[in-house]
Amino acid sequence: MGLHDGPDPIAAWDFQPRYLDGQTLKARIGPNATVMGSPMPGQTALGQCLVLNGKTDRFVATADYRTARQFLPTQKFTVEAWAAINMGQNDGSFMGVLQDNGNFEKGWSLGYNGSKFTFALSTKGADDGDGKLTYLAGKTDYVIGKFYHVLGSYDGKVMRLYVNGKLESESAAQSGDILYPETAVWSLGAYKDDDEEYPLEGRLASAALYDMVATPSGVSHLFDHRKEIALAEPVVQENPDFEWVVAPYQQFPTQDEITIMWETTRPASSAVYFGPSKANLTKVEGSLTRNPQSLIHKVVLKNLKPDSHYVYKVETIDDKQRKLESKLLTFRTAPQADKAIRFTVVGDTQDQPKVNTRIAEHMWNERPDFFMIVGDLVGTGANKRHWTNDFFASMRPLFDRVPLIPVIGNHEGDARLYYDYMAVPAPEYWYRFTYGPAEFFVVDSNRDVSVGSEQYRWLEASLASSKSKWKFVAHHHPPYSSDEDDFGNLWEGQSTRGDTRLRAMTKLYERYGVDVVWTGHIHSYERTWPILAGRAAAKGPTYVVCGGGGGGLETHGPTRPEFSNRIRHGHHYCVVSINGGVLEMSAFDIEGRMFDNLRIVK
Ligand SMILES: [Fe+2]
Ligand SMILES: [Fe+2]
Repeated sequence: MGLHDGPDPIAAWDFQPRYLDGQTLKARIGPNATVMGSPMPGQTALGQCLVLNGKTDRFVATADYRTARQFLPTQKFTVEAWAAINMGQNDGSFMGVLQDNGNFEKGWSLGYNGSKFTFALSTKGADDGDGKLTYLAGKTDYVIGKFYHVLGSYDGKVMRLYVNGKLESESAAQSGDILYPETAVWSLGAYKDDDEEYPLEGRLASAALYDMVATPSGVSHLFDHRKEIALAEPVVQENPDFEWVVAPYQQFPTQDEITIMWETTRPASSAVYFGPSKANLTKVEGSLTRNPQSLIHKVVLKNLKPDSHYVYKVETIDDKQRKLESKLLTFRTAPQADKAIRFTVVGDTQDQPKVNTRIAEHMWNERPDFFMIVGDLVGTGANKRHWTNDFFASMRPLFDRVPLIPVIGNHEGDARLYYDYMAVPAPEYWYRFTYGPAEFFVVDSNRDVSVGSEQYRWLEASLASSKSKWKFVAHHHPPYSSDEDDFGNLWEGQSTRGDTRLRAMTKLYERYGVDVVWTGHIHSYERTWPILAGRAAAKGPTYVVCGGGGGGLETHGPTRPEFSNRIRHGHHYCVVSINGGVLEMSAFDIEGRMFDNLRIVK
């Protein structure tokens, strides 16, 4: 099935400027596509292509779904594309016609997810009611800016995914006719269904659909025919639009330093102007780091005065001299150990922007010195939109003016983007943070936390060396919890009443006088009594589960473990104030109504 010696496709497009006619892209065969946005001209090793901006640029093969169905194969088919990705994402697509909404999964898509190419298909043979998509993922980690030939085929029994002419994955999970949705968009250069639209940021050279199955030799022939495109060096086609991807935010405040970060659509200069007033600003330049999925600016302001209020603004200029300027913002440096402080705690914000926004408004109204998120910041750590659209965008102006103290959760998936966006001391998954009289020991509870593990040894040495009046540990998973079913189903039997992996660590908390252990993961509030050796005690570390930042709510078990003092079902956040030997903590629901109170005096 080569281009010259095999059957013709039933639909094929060359994404070249010369086939553009207004908002129409003329097809090589099949329906002319409608152009959304305004893709720019780009190059491949063999000619021209189109550059898609990842926002507005995409194509619709035919807007009329009934017409589309006349073209779309009923069973055996092959779909191929030549494309280069400039910005990785989850659920990207080169060509598809699908709905993937909860349990309703129909159609097919050829595209990419995280760092791999994917081919998804739902058939009548595997219909479990509303349909079920099988997502094949390839083996190749695609290189940003490099062209690939990606091909999916289905013969009625087996799905296959080829990258650059080679078979990378296959599955027999689907069989029989393709299960199409009742309505859908036959989309090119974007993942598109009723709920979601994820356009490609990158280059598209061609795409084709065949109503027959490509043989392995046919696939390698298709690749060989134009392999010069894949052999070319990667070209990172800059996004033509110069905009904020993430507006400025603050990281890791100390008595004399703070870090200001932001992300732009294009490479640009990195400068912060800061000072005691807007009439008295000093310019500091920083650096830009380009990673596969991010383009992040970082400026560290140094030699600051402790316990001081500053104003600042960010200025970033691209190579075409276009300038983005933030409004005048503010930050505060950390105070000395004898000063009073106030901070907020929340967990499990995980891509619920409607809830996140309300919680962030309440927290901003408290004017905290910083806010801590105890893990599950986003729904999927590898999904860039979860960071840019859901996380950062939903919690303004809190992010503009208050530094985030992060803790890594399981939903971050240890993704590169977590480390890209956060700037805390190496190795970043654990770190110490001192603020006034309080010191925080942040642990990654996804990793080994057993006796003698790297983190255990670090934590023991750190706690032993701490001279801070108040010691807090923060990690995502709770060693003590009343949850109904995460640690054993209490409606049917027994539970370990918390994550037993962390119980060894609790001995350190007890031995070294940790005051409060902040955790999340369970999306429901809980405050324990002070706990010693698993028992409610007069003195000892108090454990707070504060996972109410947005994730779907969870429920406590029917009976109470002894250590449990207060529980509350519902979204929530905590406010903590410390003055000398007095700590006051209050917990609030999503309406801002206080429902719990803790006072520790030492
Ligand atoms: Fe969570
Ligand atoms: Fe979690």
